Amino acid sequence: MWPLDRGSKKPLFEQIVDEIERRISYGEFPPGSLLPSERKLAEQLGVNRSTVVLAYAELRALGMIESQTGSGTRVTKHKWGITPKHTPNWHRYVEGGSFLPNLPFLRRIREALQKNKALIDFASGELGADLSPVKEINTLMDENHYTEYLGYDNPQGFVPLRQALVAYLEHYRGIQTTESSILITSGSQQSLYLITQCLLAPGDAVAIEDPSYCYSLPMFQSAGLRLFRLPVDDKGVRPEEIRSLYKKHRIKMVFLNPNYQNPTGTVLDPERRVELLHIASELGLPIVEDDPFSLTDYHGTPPQPLKSADSIGSILYIGSFSKIAASGLRVGWMVAPHSVVERLADARQQMDFGLSVVPQKVAAQFLNSFYFRPHLDRLRMDLLYKRDLLIEALQKELPDLVSFSVPQGGLHLWCKIGTEVNDHKLLEEAIRNGMIYVPGSVYGSDSGYVRFTFARPKAADIPLGVSKFAAALRTVLG
Ligand SMILES: Cc1ncc(COP(=O)(O)O)c(C=O)c1O
Repeated sequence: MWPLDRGSKKPLFEQIVDEIERRISYGEFPPGSLLPSERKLAEQLGVNRSTVVLAYAELRALGMIESQTGSGTRVTKHKWGITPKHTPNWHRYVEGGSFLPNLPFLRRIREALQKNKALIDFASGELGADLSPVKEINTLMDENHYTEYLGYDNPQGFVPLRQALVAYLEHYRGIQTTESSILITSGSQQSLYLITQCLLAPGDAVAIEDPSYCYSLPMFQSAGLRLFRLPVDDKGVRPEEIRSLYKKHRIKMVFLNPNYQNPTGTVLDPERRVELLHIASELGLPIVEDDPFSLTDYHGTPPQPLKSADSIGSILYIGSFSKIAASGLRVGWMVAPHSVVERLADARQQMDFGLSVVPQKVAAQFLNSFYFRPHLDRLRMDLLYKRDLLIEALQKELPDLVSFSVPQGGLHLWCKIGTEVNDHKLLEEAIRNGMIYVPGSVYGSDSGYVRFTFARPKAADIPLGVSKFAAALRTVLG
């Protein structure tokens, strides 16, 4: 909030001038940036619009800002003397750098969710508070005090967590490994980041599923990778296409999310898995198996990971707590050959000295506790219930307009709209109506697809959210 002092002898308009001047000089309003309109700023500050008009006039006279009809009021870019000489041009820095910004739809979704907490959220790809083991984790935290020494820990990850994961991976995922082959990461996201930065080089070609969660991450382009697509049908990707991409483009790695794929919900067919492992071994091609969803299988029979049948070490296996417990813990892991783990742990040390031990300790306690198994059982049932609520609502509200296959696990429903629609207009109209989702094009699909995350909204809000979506769709289709 701006520090306007209504008791001061200094007129309010001068206080506004000083504050804007200060923010320009601190680089908070960089040259060329847009200032709020006079009406909006007056509203925000609770002052008369004429006060802001006066302040802006003064700043214009000082050469600090420029107003143009149609493009609003901006901090001057060209004139000397607007900012103290030594202030860096933050605008140019912000536009530079090698890390690309998020996709525009994703930035829009983040902004809308921050602005309006009442939006029914089918966009955030995570569990809602009702599905997260919040109580159990709180109890464990209450029972265990963190008074011991909190020094830098091993950048490869907290040993008790890696030990707990060895048992978890064997019991729940059929993966035999040792703690020296596990790297703890800040969610699966960091595993993907480390792989793109440390194991691949600019110009390398990689294959990703189409559509795919990876497509929503400009981090692949930021790393200078060339992306080639592997179309996903109702049985997942076709392994033969990997062979042809390898022949044509010498792809160096394949990124797959074979179990309840984000966004389509598909599971890679068992025969294709065998073929895929065969091709990987024949070509000496590493495969990244991103597996955050398999334990959400609604019927308690999760597909076995590729990693469990990987006898030659071609699979880099990525897991996470995010989709089965709590995304905010930021606990993920990678199972990989020891040389890879060592290389990535070394990079970790340079980046952030490893993940904080506090969430690692919580995660280890939760995995070892008698809360974990019952939590998973409850989670599966609750997800199934929410999935059915969503399907029922879509069938009721839009019986002729949408089609989808029914997922058997995961947090999402991938939905095709049966007629041409403008993705932008539909999203804006949905937000206006009070709900939000992710347009399918974010994942690389054509327009006219929608990803609904039914795990995030409260069960009671699902039918209401769908009816808001249906109203938006009808408005946009006219
Ligand atoms: C397929 C897939 N991989 C990785 C992630 C990243 O998850 P986290 O970093 O929270 O583990 C997500 C998140 O939505 C995902 O859907």
